[in-house]
Amino acid sequence: MNARDYYRWWQRADLCYQHNQLSFCGRSVQQLANQFGTPAFVYSAARVRDNLARLHTALNHAGLAGRFTLYYAMKANRFAPLLTLLKQTGLCGIDACSPAEVEHAVSCGFRPEDISFTATSLSLRDLEQLARYDGVFMDCDSIQAIDRWGRLKPGTAIGLRVNPAMGIGRADNDKLHYAGTRTTKFGIYHEQFAQALDTAARHGLRVTKIHFHTGCGYLTAQLDQLERIISQCCTFIDAAGSVERVNIGGGLGVPHLPGEQPLDLDQWAAVLRRQVGGRTLHLEVEPGDYIVKDAGLLLLEKTFVERKQTTTFVGVDGGFNIAPEPACYNLPFQPLPLHYDGSVCTPVTVVGNINEALDVWYADALLPDLADHSHLALINAGAYSASMASNHCMRGSFREFLLI
Ligand SMILES: Cc1ncc(COP(=O)(O)O)c(C=O)c1O
Repeated sequence: MNARDYYRWWQRADLCYQHNQLSFCGRSVQQLANQFGTPAFVYSAARVRDNLARLHTALNHAGLAGRFTLYYAMKANRFAPLLTLLKQTGLCGIDACSPAEVEHAVSCGFRPEDISFTATSLSLRDLEQLARYDGVFMDCDSIQAIDRWGRLKPGTAIGLRVNPAMGIGRADNDKLHYAGTRTTKFGIYHEQFAQALDTAARHGLRVTKIHFHTGCGYLTAQLDQLERIISQCCTFIDAAGSVERVNIGGGLGVPHLPGEQPLDLDQWAAVLRRQVGGRTLHLEVEPGDYIVKDAGLLLLEKTFVERKQTTTFVGVDGGFNIAPEPACYNLPFQPLPLHYDGSVCTPVTVVGNINEALDVWYADALLPDLADHSHLALINAGAYSASMASNHCMRGSFREFLLI
């Protein structure tokens, strides 16, 4: 990798160097860091809206207008101002995966009818709590969940989350696969599907939706696999007989590295049209990453620069506990200097402030001499960062800001 590639691939109108200063949402990132302090997540309302609108446009252009609903997977980022913003766009409902997420979505303005619920390992207490929200649509992912829900809400419509034993994910990263050759906890397999339908029928539950989410982070190269997965899942739709809706989950990825191209949404929508368009089905998609990931920066203060053996380390005042994806899922958040004049860059390893060996933000980041730099910004920090944060080492403090 060279510096030209490192500094080029992620730049766009609202995230770029202007007069050598990193600018985000039309603001100087240095000023944001000075004003807000660190660690701080800053999110761009405009980028979130654009990401959502781009999905709508692609599906409309593919001939699916009026036949689809987007549900934002709030597990990606549940910052209340962001959820309220999403509600105000009128462009999506919510994919929730716990009773607390449902409560939070409702408190941010979503109606229960706007919420599609898909979760795993639900306790009876969870289900009882959910049953208080008439209108939330329940996708059951185990036979036990069908049975328990049937006792609480007999005669209602439900979805079944199925597992086609095929997975999808960014490149070959099998940590991101929710289904595949390895048996996972998610969804109902073909082998148990007839039993699932019988259980639903016993309680008078109508199976009107088939749901599947088989992995995360896919880009254009994985679209053939997405097509095979949807085709395989159509066998569940045919077997159920009564299905009106199909939910293909989330999983749409964004580039993380130089050389990666954004997901080609026209090709993506064409897959959906081919697989679903010919059926009288309403399509649901529940992306998280795609809506918010590239709309967020993590601002951190530089704490030290020191050479150890042959590696130069740059330390910052936040670690993997406030944004676990790079360390836990091998999804790098590229660090950027807040000002850059094209000067010579050398490879450095950017590390956090947590006493764990995996607390490495980015190996071989191409950064200029940092002597007169006080901060760094990590890109792609809008999803699965703050929402997954822990207080490990009692370093869980950070702040979040939505830039309007
Ligand atoms: C059932 C379900 N739907 C949607 C999503 C959102 O995935 P992504 O953020 O990759 O789009 C997830 C993520 O784990 C999920 O489990």
